[in-house]
Amino acid sequence: MKSHLNLSQRAINTKESQIREASRYCGKYGAINLAQGLPDFPAPEALKIAAQQAIAADHNQYADTWGLEPLRIAIAAKMQRDNHVTVDPDTEITVCCGATEGLNIALMAILDPGDRCLIFEPFYENYIPNLATVGGIPEFITLQAPNWEITKEMLDQAFARGLKAVILNSPANPTGKVWTLAELELLAEYCDRYDVYIITDEIYEYILYEGNHISMLSLAGMSDRTIVVNGFSKTFCVTGWRLGYTVANPTLTAAMRRIHDFLTICAPAPLQYAALAALAFGQDYYQNMAKDYQRKRDLLFSALKDIGLSPVLPKGAYYIWTDSSVLADDANAAALRLAKEAGVAAVPGNCFTNPNCDRTNGLRFCFAKQDSTIQAAVERMARYAKR
Ligand SMILES: Cc1ncc(COP(=O)(O)O)c(C=O)c1O
Repeated sequence: MKSHLNLSQRAINTKESQIREASRYCGKYGAINLAQGLPDFPAPEALKIAAQQAIAADHNQYADTWGLEPLRIAIAAKMQRDNHVTVDPDTEITVCCGATEGLNIALMAILDPGDRCLIFEPFYENYIPNLATVGGIPEFITLQAPNWEITKEMLDQAFARGLKAVILNSPANPTGKVWTLAELELLAEYCDRYDVYIITDEIYEYILYEGNHISMLSLAGMSDRTIVVNGFSKTFCVTGWRLGYTVANPTLTAAMRRIHDFLTICAPAPLQYAALAALAFGQDYYQNMAKDYQRKRDLLFSALKDIGLSPVLPKGAYYIWTDSSVLADDANAAALRLAKEAGVAAVPGNCFTNPNCDRTNGLRFCFAKQDSTIQAAVERMARYAKR
């Protein structure tokens, strides 16, 4: 028997990430990497010191499986302050290995193989492989640039297909869409009517330029069916720490905790102590971060317009989405052309869209980069535009 015949269906259905593939051709063509969604600048000094101190103080063994108690208390206080929801740190919060684990334990807790889960496209690329892992079937609603609006007609059609869950991401990767209260209320009404769970990925909640972040959990009556997935990666510039958390009612939390315990036991113990320092930051930290990202966004946005692309100004998160048809008919060819000819790498749009569509349009640029990195990319693109 050939060894590949022994693989599980879930392994076969899990395709390699094209975002990392885009990063690989950065090396090949010497392109500046605006593809992968991680900052190239340092984490806050206070966090690095807190992590070093936690290791020196020998917090190096398994932590409480559900997360360090003071950290769960601090997350509950943050939820009260910023999301206007009261949650019990003992029974409703689970600290896990990044929002990535949070999303996986949420899906494992509520989906059986064959269950249908709605996602809004363009979507964060992990959602499809994460659904493949549990045998969930993705159902898509395709949102259109520049407003990425949802309509009742779209929801009528999608919910009529028989859903068990919806994954919502606001502010969204890759579009920068920030869901309004009216949109959240509309989606909540459908979830209530059809008895559907909502997993809400709020990892970019503080990276916001326009509008307000409203957590789905804060809407009246939604605590029965909402799982919040969040984490420290983006807000505190520590994507490598792998610290995230889920917030959900005690029944959902108990189910996710059982799975989390046997999947990873706990999130990194010393970094949970360091995360306490992060949650003690004042409002100025969040305001300065959003201001810094807005400056980076504006710099990159004008450069993309100047080379003839049609970028959509994001309201949140740290990505810019643009139509790519001036570069090539197909997104892969557009990304390759930009890397080879302009020396700038972006992610082709098909990472974020229904895998069964053969041809896609669109590129995603990440601007979580030092100003000097963005400036260098802008200069390259300006030179390319003049050719
Ligand atoms: C929408 C979204 N959710 C989750 C994650 C992963 O978060 P974490 O590092 O906490 O696993 C990312 C990372 O890019 C993301 O863009």
